Amino acid sequence: MATVSQAASRAPLRYSNVAVTLHWTIVVLLLTQVWLGFTFADMPRGPARMEYFTWHKTVGATILLLTLVRLGYRLANPAPPYPPEMPHWRRTAAVWSHRLLYTLLIVLPLTGLIAVSGHSSGWFTPLVGNIPLPVVPGINEATGEISGDVHVFLVWSTIALLVIHIGAALYEQFGTKTGVAYRMPPFRARDGERAVIAQGSAAEIDATRL
Ligand code: HEM
Repeated sequence: MATVSQAASRAPLRYSNVAVTLHWTIVVLLLTQVWLGFTFADMPRGPARMEYFTWHKTVGATILLLTLVRLGYRLANPAPPYPPEMPHWRRTAAVWSHRLLYTLLIVLPLTGLIAVSGHSSGWFTPLVGNIPLPVVPGINEATGEISGDVHVFLVWSTIALLVIHIGAALYEQFGTKTGVAYRMPPFRARDGERAVIAQGSAAEIDATRL
């Protein structure tokens, strides 16, 4: 049986199926959420706007929940190593932009919730199917308004960071020798070789699959 280090030296290594599923699910929800947000914000007040807004709250709460799950999973399961030929500065940039993305995906929905809390008289705000989402207690209207402005600012910050993230992934995949985006399938290794799962401590990696 190959050892992890022997096998790892010849096989490209990628995130686990759990991490990949969470990543692409959040991508789809985020795109939907940005569309929902800009759509409801431009609509005249009325039942149709309310329905879009209820979906906006629901998708936002789901993104927050999935991001917390993803962060917990990521902290418990170290990421697969970068290829040795990837320069140090680009690894550092990748690590910090990913940390910033996690932060934004948590703080952005929370600022939305605080904005809603400023206008809420009860303990809950309704999601789709009347699922009750607890509001943040003790938020007055003025604080809610400020949080709404911060929310919009963070929306644009997130979009800017996503453009950088996607640009960097495409550059690493197609513009450099590392092609490191294969760590997140369906990107493939540069020679088309299928990358193997290598997330988790070395002891958890099933060396027989390498
Ligand atoms: C990752 C999650 C979220 C994203 C990407 C997002 C995105 C957006 C976008 C694109 C807008 C329109 C901005 C504009 O008017 O230019 C918006 C507005 C808004 N969103 Fe979210 N949102 C998220 C989560 C939430 C959540 C969880 C809530 C509430 C529970 C919420 C409440 C609001 C409110 C109240 C506004 C109006 C803000 C204002 O104009 O003052 N959002 N959001």
